[in-house]
This record gives sequence, C-alpha cells and structure tokens, in this order.
Amino acid sequence: MEEQLIGIKNTALSFILEAKTLHELEETKLQFLGRSGTLTLAFKDLVKLPMEKRKEVGMLANEVKTAIEEALEQKQLQFLGNQKKEQAKKIDVTEPGEKPSLGHLHLITQAIEEITTIFEGIGFQRVRYPEIEWDWYAFEALNFPESHPARDDWETFFVDEDTDPKMGPVILTPHTSSGQVREMINVVKSHSAEEKIQIKMLNIAKCYRRQSDVSHTQMFHQFEGLVVGKNIAITHLKGTLDYFVKSYFGEKRKARIRPYHFQFTEPSFEVDVSCGVCLGKGCKLCKAGWLEMGGAGMVHPNVLKAGGIDPKKYTGFAFGWGVERVLMMKDDIEIDDLRLLYSNNLAFLEQF
Ligand code: DAH
Repeated sequence: MEEQLIGIKNTALSFILEAKTLHELEETKLQFLGRSGTLTLAFKDLVKLPMEKRKEVGMLANEVKTAIEEALEQKQLQFLGNQKKEQAKKIDVTEPGEKPSLGHLHLITQAIEEITTIFEGIGFQRVRYPEIEWDWYAFEALNFPESHPARDDWETFFVDEDTDPKMGPVILTPHTSSGQVREMINVVKSHSAEEKIQIKMLNIAKCYRRQSDVSHTQMFHQFEGLVVGKNIAITHLKGTLDYFVKSYFGEKRKARIRPYHFQFTEPSFEVDVSCGVCLGKGCKLCKAGWLEMGGAGMVHPNVLKAGGIDPKKYTGFAFGWGVERVLMMKDDIEIDDLRLLYSNNLAFLEQF
C-alpha cells in the first residue's frame, strides 16, 4: 500500500510537470483527486488495512494528497501568470481608447463669462475688488447713513477683526457696489490733472448676506457697472440696459426703468425685463408682464466726492444685478431651489 501511494504521488507530479494547458492540468486533478480518482480510491482502501497499519498509512496518504494539491496550485498560478502576459502582448493599439470623462465650467462661471463678453463688446473693463472689505467702501463712501439697517449684523457678515477709526469694521462685501469708490480712487490716482477721467468698469464678484432659502444663498454673485465721464446721462444708462437685455435674453425682450431709491444713486431706478413667456403682456408666470432684474441709477454726488471726483465736472451711472438672478430669468433655465447651484451635486450640475 505504501508503495502504491508513492507511485501515485510520482505519477501525479510528473503529469503536473508536463501539463501544457490549464485544461490538461484540470484533467490531471480529476484523474487523481476526482471522485473516482486514483488517490481517492486508495483512501477508500485504507479501511481494508489492519488497525495497527491504518494510522501510519493514512498519514502517508494525506502527505501525498497535500503534495499533489500544492503542485497543482503552483502550476495553475504559473499558467494564469502567462495568460496575463499574453494578453498584455496582444494590446491592439489601433483600437479606440477609453475617453476620460470631461467636466465643464460651473453654470455660474459660464454666465459670468457670457456677461463679461457682452459688456466688453461696448468697452467695459472687467475688474475685481476684495470680498473681505472695509465697511467704508461698502457703506460709508456710498452715502449710507450710520443707522441704515443693512449696516447692522442682521444682513451683513462681520469679520472678527479690529475696527479701524476711519474704515470701520471688516465685513464680507454684501454687494459689488463697494468696487465703485475703489475704482474711482484707482483711476483718479493714475490720471494727471489735465487728463479727462473716464471709467467703464465691470466688477463681478462674490457677495455675502445672511439669507438662505429657495431663492437666496449666503454666497452669491453680482455684476456691477460703473460709467463716469463728462455729460454722462440717463439716456446712456438706458441704452446700456437695452443692449444688455437684448444680447443676454434675446432680441424680443425689453428693458424698462422704474423710479426707486438707493443711497448711492440719484435718481435711482429699478430695472425690469419683459417676461420671456408673454413678452410684456402679462401671464400666469410673471403676472404683470415684467420681471425685476435689479438696481441702477445716476451716481450720487457724495459718492463721486468720496472717490475724489468733482461732481460739478463729471457725472456717471451705475447698475448692480445678481448673476444667479439674471440666469434664472433666461427662459430656458428652470431651477426650483437656488441653493442647488452650490451643493456640489453632480447629478444636478451635469445637466448644464
Ligand atoms: N448694490 C445694490 C444691491 O445690492 C444694487 C445696485 C443698485 C447697484 C443701484 C447699483 C445701483 O450700482 O446703481 O441691492
């Protein structure tokens, strides 16, 4: 019996050694370890042995089994390794590759680029001013009285920094209008006394207010226009509005201005755009035919003075609108909750 077992082991190992394919290996396995394999039958014969011998021979049979199993496993790994190498060799370089998935610009970045291109077309220059701002530029220089509600911490974020005797507290800018006086000061500084002052600024920036609901996010974007020069009048403002509305919303849409109040403009207006659905006639969506877009007006003399410009020689107009808001007013875009824009939800963002 012992000899038989040694014989089985040697035959099996030599078969394994000679096997040329996985299939051959599988057959060898069946031949020795299968249900009626040679070794399996030998195990069954163990019962026929006298008790004293059974244990010893049984141990040998187990050793043979382990040896065969290990050899099978090693050879199998060898085959699989070769198979992988073969596959690697067979790469077809003419096959089209897998394209990496491409992202795209955020919806708001796209809108900012579009707005910039429109205004650059009529000579505006894009600038950027700080998001972390002095109260002075955001309120004081814009003719806000000390007690104005926007200045307390209900609407404005205050930064935990020392208050400056002239500049006041540090805040997160609540509107892009804070860039108006910064721009005037910069331009005046770079002009000689005889040179005519001319400003055509487009300030697009992030703004912050304490508000969050379906139509407001704490961080949002505004674009602010400022034009200062000799004899700048309301007609220039209206022409600019009409041009923007037609370029951005389409030829059929119209702009209108209504009297309003802002601290930093006099007179001040609210700008409306005709509804994209009924084109101004009035419908279920817009009610009266017009949608509010934002503020505008003729720059207040006190604001020009704060910027170092003589209001007797120069006049100007300004406007400031929300990027998110104008985007929502384009008739092909419907977003129920503005907060989705900044939720980093790919399923939402990939639509645009
Ligand atoms: N800054 C104003 C706001 O955030 C919008 C605004 C109104 C800007 C009138 C202007 C303007 O430049 O002339 O509500």
